[in-house]
Amino acid sequence: MRPETKLQNSAAMANTGNQAFVYLAAIFAALGGLLFGYDTGVISGAELFFRNEFTLSTFELEVIVSGVLAGAAFGALIGGRLADLFGRRKLLIATAIIFAAGAILCAAAPSAVILVAGRMIVGLGIGLSSSGVPVYISEVAPAEARGWQVSLFQLAITVGILLAYLVDYAFSSIQGWRWMFGLAVIPAAVFGTGMIFLPESPRWLLRRGDRSAARAMLARIRGTGDIDSELGEIEQSITKAPESGRFSDLFARSIRPALVVGIGLAIFQQITGINTVIYYAPLIIQSAGISSASGAILATAGIGAVNVLMTIFSMWLIDRQGRRFLLLTGIAGMAITLCLLGFVFHRPQQTTGIAWLAVISMMAYVGSFAISLGPIFWLLISEIYPLKIRNSAEGLAATFNWGANLLVTLTFLTLVEKLGPTRTFWLYGVCAIGAGLFSYYFVPETKGRTLEQIEASLHTADHSSSRRN
Ligand code: BGC
Repeated sequence: MRPETKLQNSAAMANTGNQAFVYLAAIFAALGGLLFGYDTGVISGAELFFRNEFTLSTFELEVIVSGVLAGAAFGALIGGRLADLFGRRKLLIATAIIFAAGAILCAAAPSAVILVAGRMIVGLGIGLSSSGVPVYISEVAPAEARGWQVSLFQLAITVGILLAYLVDYAFSSIQGWRWMFGLAVIPAAVFGTGMIFLPESPRWLLRRGDRSAARAMLARIRGTGDIDSELGEIEQSITKAPESGRFSDLFARSIRPALVVGIGLAIFQQITGINTVIYYAPLIIQSAGISSASGAILATAGIGAVNVLMTIFSMWLIDRQGRRFLLLTGIAGMAITLCLLGFVFHRPQQTTGIAWLAVISMMAYVGSFAISLGPIFWLLISEIYPLKIRNSAEGLAATFNWGANLLVTLTFLTLVEKLGPTRTFWLYGVCAIGAGLFSYYFVPETKGRTLEQIEASLHTADHSSSRRN
């Protein structure tokens, strides 16, 4: 074999090896998303049973359900700072331990108070993972694959939700709420063990001044020694912003456009009503006319499956079509299906046919979310911030997301009671129109650009050209 052919072959082998490694890194880190999905989805079934065992008042039940969201908002807020201080990898290992501890506490809870504590600890894990995982994956993924690799996080969330619905269903006959909570220990253990063997983010190592470790990690991740230009780009972006970011840096003039995009999408992702469907689907389906509990749970699992499948579809499209096209198309779908859902409840008489129309509208709505605000929010907030403040800014956006989630979850039933379901869904529809306008005017295209290029363009506030890209 000629030497150059040999060389080419070994380069190709290294390349295959490196791709496998990047996939592995992304998949393991995304398990943090699976736990996020599982632990938020599991409550819908579990609450039916622990409320009997502890004889809870409505308020106590609300505290248990929303405790996890409050914990998550707090976790997301401090997660960014902790990831900057201790490194992305160490924080994710700690997150896995927190998830496992919370799950065990919930499963063994002798009283409602301990259950609340357990759910808050789980919430802390969810918040830490929601601010840490997308940043970790975006920092190890190559630019051309970053879109779908970060979207793995959203896919894992949807798989986690579906898994929770199925586990709830499987254990409902024995009222096994402790199993429902406790089984989360398994993915937590896999996630933590995987992260022990995965590399630290080279970008974080460089920022700490550890060039040789950063070089070695990047070479390991890319599977080639030919990484000098990438290393140079990262170094340049660090030289431009040598100081470690302070909280006040988040409000610097040059950061403002990115901050507005992140926080805006965080709020719109929630106020367009996704979790009213994710957490309350069986209830909505029953009130639309399918009275049997098992029928409602089955239809809910169907909605969970559509969520997973459409997320996979969006991962296939996201680095081809770009973020803006998917975002705008999906949001238009959400507005239309919310309007339809409102009409379903407008009918004076609920028939089985109407109930199925509600289920189909909900499936189309969740499918539209799954190609747009679902993955693209988490992706953009891992891409658009300069390295200096990336974690804090991402954490801030995630905190707004959890805060808005808490608000919508706590007010949904009251809104249905006061305004009726029709007006409530139309209200979310109006929010979807707002989300569409916001995305059209403010969200930049980031497809195929390195994080450093995105950072440079946001420094020059070059939105009009980035929008058209
Ligand atoms: C949202 C969650 C939601 C999930 C549904 C995520 O992107 O942040 O609040 O439950 O999508 O798939």
